[in-house]
Amino acid sequence: MPDLTTSIGNTTFQNPVFVASGTFGYGLENPDLVDVSKFGAIVTKSITRHPREGNPPPRIVETPSGMINSIGLANIGVEKYVREMVPNYEKIGVPIIMNIAGSVEEEYCEILDIVESVSSNIVGYEINISCPNVKEGGIEFGVDPLLTEALTSALRKRTEKLLILKLSPNVTDIRVIANAAVNGGADSVSAINTVYGMSIDSMARKSEIYTTYGGLSGPAIKPIGLACVHKVFNAVDCPIIGIGGITDSADAIEYLLAGASAIQVGTANYRNPAAGLSIVEGMESYCSKHKISHITDLIGKVKTHE
Ligand code: DHB
Repeated sequence: MPDLTTSIGNTTFQNPVFVASGTFGYGLENPDLVDVSKFGAIVTKSITRHPREGNPPPRIVETPSGMINSIGLANIGVEKYVREMVPNYEKIGVPIIMNIAGSVEEEYCEILDIVESVSSNIVGYEINISCPNVKEGGIEFGVDPLLTEALTSALRKRTEKLLILKLSPNVTDIRVIANAAVNGGADSVSAINTVYGMSIDSMARKSEIYTTYGGLSGPAIKPIGLACVHKVFNAVDCPIIGIGGITDSADAIEYLLAGASAIQVGTANYRNPAAGLSIVEGMESYCSKHKISHITDLIGKVKTHE
């Protein structure tokens, strides 16, 4: 049996297949649909300091080989999250990575302090500095290396758990932001969040998403994600979690070859919440067929022409 374990910082996961934030709720919604204990980890939906209704509809539209969403960080807020979700994480048998979003540094810090004040088996935090859809900001952090580094160091002082900064592709050079996150003390970066997009109904002559622009995800963005992961891998010394358009095990292997130590499945969960489980099986077969004894032997091993 090939060894699928992979490590991020001081944490080892049973396999490199995680489900992505915003595509698997708070991790507790699908117990009869999917055996979640077989995932490497679940990354939960972004939590903010206070509950949010999110943006008005339409907030999701299908596009060629993908979808655009502008949910606007609808969520229950950190207090209810700690009361009603966190205690259930003891039972589900899979590591939980909590995703946190905010608009100013103090907000991110307050959320982290509240979660850290209770005992939980959350193994780490993924920090959303790249939400494209809220007026109050969020993406400002993800496009500014100084803000990214300052936020990361403030959070680093507050937790010993995994600290993962989720990067936006909507920047001139993603390596600069990844480097800032690592300088601030991040254990890892995840790349990429959604790509700015717009969809127009020509008959109605109207933009389809209420907020006009939204975040594009799905197979349409896989080449963007692969390029970002490969660039960060070659420039910054930290484990990378690859995200963007992963639908099957071949996609997942491509991300490992580009430099990812783990991957997240996002949009594919909407069609099949068990997509991640097929990816785990497919990775196992790939390793057996190619006589790879440990999945991590593939990380960054793509051959380029230079
Ligand atoms: C939302 C947040 C994101 O980080 C993203 O990439 C897309 C959408 C949201 O809640 O609107």
